[in-house]
Amino acid sequence: MIHHEIFSTLLHDEPDTRRSRLLERHFNLSGLDERVSLEEFDWGYNPKIPKRACFDLNTLKFVRDGENPILIGPPGTGKSHVAKAIA
Ligand SMILES: Nc1ncnc2c1ncn2[C@@H]1O[C@H](COP(=O)(O)OP(=O)(O)O)[C@@H](O)[C@H]1O
Ligand SMILES: [Mg+2]
Repeated sequence: MIHHEIFSTLLHDEPDTRRSRLLERHFNLSGLDERVSLEEFDWGYNPKIPKRACFDLNTLKFVRDGENPILIGPPGTGKSHVAKAIA
């Protein structure tokens, strides 16, 4: 049982490590000034921000569809944060 768990951990840990290294490399190449996510965004702060639409953009379907999303709103409302998270 113990051996099975160790083996299982090793097996799953390697792809996770590779994936996070790849993400790290892509982030460094991106030129983005900070690494943010939609998970850390405070959706309760301004309920007018369309959470659902932001998570839809986060699927990157718009890239496959050749569409250009535009984030519009007053300064300081998190447009850049959301854009960076998606990028
Ligand atoms: N709802 C929020 N939850 C967490 N951080 C936020 C939120 N709104 C804004 N911020 C933070 O406030 C700062 C300004 O937001 P930013 O995305 O630059 O606004 P905008 O591009 O709309 O002017 C950023 O550091 C951003 O991460
Ligand atoms: Mg901005």
